[in-house]
Amino acid sequence: MTLHENKPIILAGMMGTGKSHIGKLLAERLSLPFYDSDKVIEERGGLTIPEIFELYGEARFRESETKTIIELLGQGACVIATGGGALTNDAVLEAVKAQSHSIWLHADLETLMERLSQSKNRPLLQNDNPKAILEDLLEKRESLYAQMDIAINTGAGNADAVLNEIVDKLGNLK
Ligand code: S3P
Repeated sequence: MTLHENKPIILAGMMGTGKSHIGKLLAERLSLPFYDSDKVIEERGGLTIPEIFELYGEARFRESETKTIIELLGQGACVIATGGGALTNDAVLEAVKAQSHSIWLHADLETLMERLSQSKNRPLLQNDNPKAILEDLLEKRESLYAQMDIAINTGAGNADAVLNEIVDKLGNLK
């Protein structure tokens, strides 16, 4: 696969679509460095994402997320997994569109619920009705994710099939 320019590859999409898992495997497959924006934020701040939400609130988290992703976009060729809400910030959306090969990972709601039902580290879902929250977030965000260069369903095939599809579609990008 030969990609034009020295652009990073961005993975965007809802919580539970496999951005971190697939991102790591994709980076290995392409021999590129891998960054997970949530992990970078946690390591730098010495706090977990739930702790950041609890101590400082979502708005402060979004500020760190924006700064971190814009900085990572300057790293040249690499793979970056973003948090599910990253594109809700206009600056991130525009930078991702202008500076990266962008991939939207998606899966149906039932699959997301199965993958997320035990998760304690998604502060937005620590609620009586996480499914309704997820549905609402997806409705608000779908038009943002749809602006990515490539869309891939991670709900059907195994990781290998997903990787093959990504590599294939990246190869067809102009
Ligand atoms: C969020 C998704 C999380 C994390 C934070 C907020 C969101 O990342 O950034 O809990 O707003 O959808 P993942 O998509 O990796 O779970």
